[in-house]
Amino acid sequence: ALERTFSIIKPDATERNLTGKVNAMIEAAGLRIIGQRRIQMTEEQAKRFYAVHAERPFYGELVEFMTSGPVVVQVLEGENAVAKYRDVMGATNPADAADGTIRKEVAKSIGENSVHGSDSQENAAIEIAQFFSEADIAG
Ligand code: CMP
Repeated sequence: ALERTFSIIKPDATERNLTGKVNAMIEAAGLRIIGQRRIQMTEEQAKRFYAVHAERPFYGELVEFMTSGPVVVQVLEGENAVAKYRDVMGATNPADAADGTIRKEVAKSIGENSVHGSDSQENAAIEIAQFFSEADIAG
């Protein structure tokens, strides 16, 4: 089915000028970038976005990293977009990511792993709504 998913190009990738490379890999996989904005996340936004991880030992580090520089928030659309984007991203830890995936090609570590993608359609809708209004999405 035609789905939407939510993506973030993280600070380690924007810092190295890799937004275009990541976007080229997204588009080559057949996903359409139907919403996109470059922002500096506030601590409040990052804490809210990652609230599900609040009890994890790496939560503080994660919030600090995601607010350390600009990120690009995106809405992606395509057939089975949630699963497809997770395939394109590769495993969370770049050491485990398959050849040709974004994380294999550009990520630095399990924390500085260059991209985020929603893990379900339900979470995609919640995450998109945190950063986009429908007026800023055009499919
Ligand atoms: P993301 O998909 O954005 O969602 C949660 C993030 O937590 C994940 O990507 C990782 O970047 C990060 N993360 C997971 N495990 C660790 C870890 N052990 N240390 C630091 N960050 C982590």
